[in-house]
Amino acid sequence: MGFSDWTPQYTVNNPVMDEHHQTIFKMVNQLHEAIFAKKAKESLGVIISSLMDYTERHFAEEERIMQQHNYPGYLQHKAAHEHLSAQAQEFKLKYMAGDNTISSELFYFLVSDLLVKHILNMDKKYAPFLKNAPSARAECMLQNASVYP
Ligand SMILES: [Fe+2]
Ligand SMILES: [Fe+2]
Repeated sequence: MGFSDWTPQYTVNNPVMDEHHQTIFKMVNQLHEAIFAKKAKESLGVIISSLMDYTERHFAEEERIMQQHNYPGYLQHKAAHEHLSAQAQEFKLKYMAGDNTISSELFYFLVSDLLVKHILNMDKKYAPFLKNAPSARAECMLQNASVYP
């Protein structure tokens, strides 16, 4: 049991997107454990960079799927991704330029804004649109195989 775990309430009715979200939760837990274990700044920096890279690729894939299925909230969702990415980048730069203690603000942002608020408030809104598209699962799996070898 991690600090914050994916539970079925977070499902977006798409197995590939659910898998991505589960991975993001795991990476946030990994970061939490590393902070708790007082790992060196370099180690935490590597975890933060991996988490941000994975999240960026997830956002791109999610946007591709939403666009492909003509999700009406696509532009608003894409803007929310861009806002989260910019915030994450700002936190990372501040952290890398600052002292060896990770800001509690950064962790609050990852758990609250990225995981809970974004997935619960925004990602779940596209769930019915993908669920009703019969080819969504097969398309996502094919794409996933090529983007995440
Ligand atoms: Fe999203
Ligand atoms: Fe997502």
